[in-house]
Amino acid sequence: MELKQAVAIVTGSSSGIGAAIATQLAAKGCRVAINYNRNSQGAQAVAQACQDMGAEPLVWRADVAVDSDCRALVDATLKRFGRLDILVNNAGTTKFCGHQNLAGLSTEDFLNIYAVNTVGPFLMTRAAEQALRQQPVAHIVNMASIAAITGVGSSIAYAASKGALVTMTMSLARVLGPQIRVNAICPGFVAGEWLKNGLGESIYTAMQKHYMEISPLKNTATPETVAQTVLALVGGADWTTGETIIVDGGAHLHTAPMRR
Ligand SMILES: NC(=O)c1ccc[n+]([C@@H]2O[C@H](COP(=O)([O-])OP(=O)(O)OC[C@H]3O[C@@H](n4cnc5c(N)ncnc54)[C@H](OP(=O)(O)O)[C@@H]3O)[C@@H](O)[C@H]2O)c1
Repeated sequence: MELKQAVAIVTGSSSGIGAAIATQLAAKGCRVAINYNRNSQGAQAVAQACQDMGAEPLVWRADVAVDSDCRALVDATLKRFGRLDILVNNAGTTKFCGHQNLAGLSTEDFLNIYAVNTVGPFLMTRAAEQALRQQPVAHIVNMASIAAITGVGSSIAYAASKGALVTMTMSLARVLGPQIRVNAICPGFVAGEWLKNGLGESIYTAMQKHYMEISPLKNTATPETVAQTVLALVGGADWTTGETIIVDGGAHLHTAPMRR
């Protein structure tokens, strides 16, 4: 897809990976709707970065777990830009809770994580379907996680919610063609505040060292390197749908060394 003048909604783009995606799309000439839920200041800073590149983004508050908010975000984007080509379902939440600590996850925790990570992308997709179908080529990218595939991650509820998102990606890809491609991205360890705040500084540092050692690329991802894969999909993978791409520098390939 030609990104210049294309219109994109990036949910959860007030910080981290979403902010990097919105900024990189704007740098390619995309017209971007920046979405936040609580962090309006962060969203304004991302908008400013886009404006500094000559873009004129829309900034819109919406809770992706609320259907009327999702519809309002799509409507505002169409009103401002007149069309929609790309939906990046990036907004996500979690509760950090050791997997062995089953009692640490309440029903409410589980449902809240599902509401944002799994139901949210569905509500956004449903709200955006009609507009995306007006384009000969349109893309949806779902931000899942390596947790979806390996069952690791901040909590069992988080891993399960991302696993469901990967499954939903395949179901939606099957029914949203021929105009809309639907793919998922599974980042591994991404350097930044999400993990630093969730794990605490010392576990974060030890974990990052571990992933740097086991990754064939000898580093961990950043929001910017994850965003590159989103750009590669929407800007250069029009014949790809229903796929899940792991973005972890190959860390998932690690096996214990062979011993004689
Ligand atoms: N960091 C990692 O290691 C990692 C690894 C794999 C996958 N991921 C996934 O990558 C995505 C982005 O995470 P990140 O690392 O960039 O963390 P982040 O900086 O905390 O970003 C999370 C974003 O989601 C938004 N959000 C949360 N709940 C929302 C809701 N109900 N409605 C709308 N937006 C909501 C936040 O908006 P507000 O702050 O404005 O409320 C924020 O913009 C998530 O889906 C996460 O699961 C992250």
